[in-house]
Amino acid sequence: MDRPTVLIKGLSKKIGSRLIIDNVSFEVPKGEVFGFLGPNGAGKTTTIRMMVGLMKPTDGDVWIEGKSIRHEFEQAIRHVGAIVENPEMYKYLSGYKNLVHYARMVPGVSIERIDEVVRLVGLEQRIHDKVKSYSLGMRQRLGVAQALLQKPTLLILDEPTNGLDPAGIRELRDYLRTLAREEGISIVVSSHLLAEMELMCDRVGVIQKGRLIDVRLIGEFVAEGEKERYLFRVGTPERAAEVLTRLGVSLKQTEAGLEVDAGQEQAADINEQLVKAGIRVHGISPVKKSLEDKFLEMTGGETLA
Ligand SMILES: Nc1ncnc2c1ncn2[C@@H]1O[C@H](COP(=O)(O)OP(=O)(O)OP(=O)(O)O)[C@@H](O)[C@H]1O
Ligand SMILES: [Mg+2]
Repeated sequence: MDRPTVLIKGLSKKIGSRLIIDNVSFEVPKGEVFGFLGPNGAGKTTTIRMMVGLMKPTDGDVWIEGKSIRHEFEQAIRHVGAIVENPEMYKYLSGYKNLVHYARMVPGVSIERIDEVVRLVGLEQRIHDKVKSYSLGMRQRLGVAQALLQKPTLLILDEPTNGLDPAGIRELRDYLRTLAREEGISIVVSSHLLAEMELMCDRVGVIQKGRLIDVRLIGEFVAEGEKERYLFRVGTPERAAEVLTRLGVSLKQTEAGLEVDAGQEQAADINEQLVKAGIRVHGISPVKKSLEDKFLEMTGGETLA
């Protein structure tokens, strides 16, 4: 397999006596959009800060294009474009002038590249307007344009959809996907919003209390949800619930009927038992578990902000 764009091994951070990041490891291959998902305070920003060298790890390391962020910082960071906190922009200058200003500080960025990134983030129409006249979404896009100037192979965005409306989120999502597909850029994007991750990412890593508790392809979350639960519509729900509880089936009674944790085969068995007990079964259908259900299940129902 090709070398991953970013490889993280055993990354930990201790502040005082608190272990804030606990032995986090994952990798992101070329062209993948990787979602870093977790509730407030889980450790997303801290991990990202260590990935871009803004904070020194207590343990472990991050390799970007094979270069260690701890030991070969210059060579590693050269490949990274990142927005960690809100990017600083000069509000009274145009978006274009902001980019020119920034480009002066980065070696090897041509004027043509500025035009290119403006086109990539779709800001052509407004790039000569002052930044103070931009919407939040446009400022985000300008931030991404700035991060793209030096042709990074890895783009890291900490909660880029914060404060965006649904249309803004969709736009961001579309151009991030385009960047990954057409430019082969790997993208790490953090969020505490599940539905968003589902639409934006190829793979998602779930972080909770500083630990990476699961990494899955987005399709796996969804597929797993589909096969795990069935809804039974029955004539006498109370009695059916009694029968199933006696059989040790875990269930939830909803207005629609009885939801049981079961695979396809088990659902067929349950149906048989219900019929045997003289209960009329009107319908059986798989319940699609959303990524949100899945996430809450994994994090033990911890609420999200
Ligand atoms: N400099 C610091 N000193 C002490 N504690 C810190 C420091 N930075 C972060 N923390 C703690 O580390 C934990 C993780 O914080 P972090 O900002 O990484 O979470 P997050 O996942 O980005 O959350 P959010 O969704 O709110 O942005 C929190 O409990 C936070 O209080
Ligand atoms: Mg954060």
